[in-house]
Amino acid sequence: MTVKIGLVGTGTVGGGVIDIIHNHKEDFKNRLGIDIELVRVCSLNKAEAEAHGAGDIFTPDFNEIINDPDIDIVIELIGGTGVAHAIVTNALRAGKNVVTANKALMATAGEEIFGLAKEANVEIAFEASVGGGIPIIDPLKHSLISNEISSVLGIVNGTTNYMLTRMDEDGMPYDEVLAEAQAKGFAEANPSADVDGFDAAAKIAILASIAFNSRVVMDDVHTEGISNIQPIDLKTGHEMGYAVKLLAIAHRMPEGIDVRVHPTMIPEQHQMAKVNGVYNAIYVTGDAVGETMFFGEGAGAGPAASAVMGDVLEVSRHIALGIPPIVGCTCSEKLPIAPFENLQTRYYIRLLVPDRVGVLARAADVFARHDASLRSVSQEGTKDHDAVNLIFVTHEACEANIRAALAELAAMGDMLLADPTVIRVED
Ligand code: HSE
Repeated sequence: MTVKIGLVGTGTVGGGVIDIIHNHKEDFKNRLGIDIELVRVCSLNKAEAEAHGAGDIFTPDFNEIINDPDIDIVIELIGGTGVAHAIVTNALRAGKNVVTANKALMATAGEEIFGLAKEANVEIAFEASVGGGIPIIDPLKHSLISNEISSVLGIVNGTTNYMLTRMDEDGMPYDEVLAEAQAKGFAEANPSADVDGFDAAAKIAILASIAFNSRVVMDDVHTEGISNIQPIDLKTGHEMGYAVKLLAIAHRMPEGIDVRVHPTMIPEQHQMAKVNGVYNAIYVTGDAVGETMFFGEGAGAGPAASAVMGDVLEVSRHIALGIPPIVGCTCSEKLPIAPFENLQTRYYIRLLVPDRVGVLARAADVFARHDASLRSVSQEGTKDHDAVNLIFVTHEACEANIRAALAELAAMGDMLLADPTVIRVED
């Protein structure tokens, strides 16, 4: 049996996919009895295809893949929600099985895509969209299916985890650490998707949808990034017994799905606190399995291509056995999204303020009037003798009250010298 593949996208991951197919073709035949044949490769850059020995099957036109009646599986690896949307939806309409690594597309147009796959009776698989090489979507859909999942916690963005690790271990300020991440190729020239948390938001939307069997889209995810974090926050976190991570959080609550991405203090002894550098981890709690953690490399040619090819081979197996799509859309419930303003948690709040008499008392008064009880207050000088960092840690408080307090402090005009740094404490 031969399964024919068309690939769109020859960047880092696409190149990795071509290499794996070339290097392991014989292994696939031996393991699955299937000849995986890459018959067409499309991108804007022929040289990339040639660099991976695929120049002879190159086309600049993705329609040549979608409209080729011989192609069984289309792999979409260009990313984004523009052309990629057209490629994926038109490939499904044309009756192709689709494998994609596109988190933004699945987190915004998942419902439409699953609908098209169902209509055409074909498969849509997207393991590589979350956690790079870490198997997490397949385990949630298969191995853990008997569980009611109560929470999914993810360190799902390697760039920001690298940056926080460098700030923590080497005390490097945010701007320096970002420049280093860009020089190493971890962060893009425009780093917003990573540092502002959008990449992680797409990933937790996908994970929450599968874990809770209810559609969560990117816009449902309250999202904050790491651009207000400085080494002092990581240092103070350690003094309190916590590590600071950009955590993607999804909890099943009585009032609905609590889903958010923001810098978070987690206890130093928690396994997630030890996930450093560009590594990713996803921590899943289910009623039967208990607590379980998935760890590995969240990006890069090898890990992402490994996840893509896992999907390709599974779909190929179904094609070879004549099995119709086994798992389609898993969103059988319609759970509400819990309002973020109702969140109750503890807060670490750092305010850069003028070093003047009465400033601390005024700030403390604002928190008191918004019903935010303070657990600890400390002050740390800066190089600028006229400014100090005031650090407040609250007892459990309500998000809406904390926001109102911060808005009042900002409106005072003479209090805040920079945007406040807010880190929620997740025990
Ligand atoms: N930019 C992502 C990260 C990898 O830094 O983890 C792709 O999802």
